[in-house]
Amino acid sequence: MAFHVSKLTLRFPKPISFSLRPVSGTKHPQINLTLTDLACAVSRRSLHSVVRQASENRSANSRLLKSKPSKYSWAVSTATRLENFSAASKSFSLQSASPPNSKSWFRSYKIALSVLGLSTGAIAALHTSALLAMSAETVNLDSDRTDWQEAKSLLLSASLEKRREFYRVDHLPLEKVPVWTSTGTSTDQPRHEISDALSQKISLFRGDITKLEIDAIVNAANKTLLGGGGVDGAIHRGAGPLLRKECATLGGCETGEAKITGAYGLPAKHVIHTVGPIVFGGVSDKEKDALRDCYLNSLKTAVQNELRTVAFPCISTGVYGYPPEEAVEVALATVRKYLDEHHEQLDRIIFCVFLKSDADLYQRNLPLYFPQAQSADQSESPTDGQDPL
Ligand code: APR
Repeated sequence: MAFHVSKLTLRFPKPISFSLRPVSGTKHPQINLTLTDLACAVSRRSLHSVVRQASENRSANSRLLKSKPSKYSWAVSTATRLENFSAASKSFSLQSASPPNSKSWFRSYKIALSVLGLSTGAIAALHTSALLAMSAETVNLDSDRTDWQEAKSLLLSASLEKRREFYRVDHLPLEKVPVWTSTGTSTDQPRHEISDALSQKISLFRGDITKLEIDAIVNAANKTLLGGGGVDGAIHRGAGPLLRKECATLGGCETGEAKITGAYGLPAKHVIHTVGPIVFGGVSDKEKDALRDCYLNSLKTAVQNELRTVAFPCISTGVYGYPPEEAVEVALATVRKYLDEHHEQLDRIIFCVFLKSDADLYQRNLPLYFPQAQSADQSESPTDGQDPL
């Protein structure tokens, strides 16, 4: 299908901008590109990454297309034609890698590079928009025959509104999860200083972790990562079969380690799977260190993936038998220590409890690790106590 360039205005030195829409008027999101932005963005490195992204999307498109021809094939075939064009213009611009110093040559080199960036950027945009446009027709999160990588890349590049079409459970937006505020009733001596930087970053939420619409929920998994009962079972049920398909490629997970996947039918964008220690009888230093590592490695994984809102269940306190009154101290001490050093990289940590007993435990212990300014007649300011780590 031919494209109609609806508006091309040369406004030097202002950027050249144009919008593309199909002649037949088929409804299709307009693609507005500012040439100068593309020209500026088009360095060799970004060019390769843009071309790579375009060809990744193209292969995803062609796989999707093979599975079910769609009315959006015009986008893919046009993108492929543009790609051939850009390959031609790329060879022109790269052939003249060491330009003579004539002014006229430099101007044509710049124009060639801009055209190259323009066509490459248009390809990436076309492939992405075609991928998104095909989403409603070809991505089935209930079927384990769907390609999990295509589904994952589609969901991660979709808008929030688009992603909500795929949720398999109810969702609770972050703004509906209040920041924790101390009730001021704790009589124990706080173990940390009051920190204004942290006071807006902690939430205590009692409910189902699978509903939280945030960057990542942490799963209390087992070493196989292939699902189980408890919160693990709830997360796999909510995500659908593609979560297990991706988990099966990870080669399991050791106790204390953390591995990240997509979240598929869940409102969260990612699931960070961690395996807690199994406790028989008393808690040894080994189990305490392993539980600390679950929280620490999950937070490190979130920050490495630039995720800013994370929810933890009460890891190991169910089937794995870790005494909740001891686990809460390890959890809060680890999160407090990590936030002291990385609070700019995280916006919210949600302690998601399921049982009333756990809610009471966290309510009692949070003021010790995240003390908040209290009115004058409350206890005096805290001094540094000994963490249980
Ligand atoms: N949302 C939030 N928390 C939940 C949910 C839920 N939907 N379901 C259970 N929980 C709570 C439990 O009440 C408990 O406090 O999660 C905590 C952890 O309990 P488990 O899920 O039993 O996890 P764990 O003790 O770490 O044992 C892990 O159990 O489910 C299997 O496959 C899992 O083998 C692994 C083992």
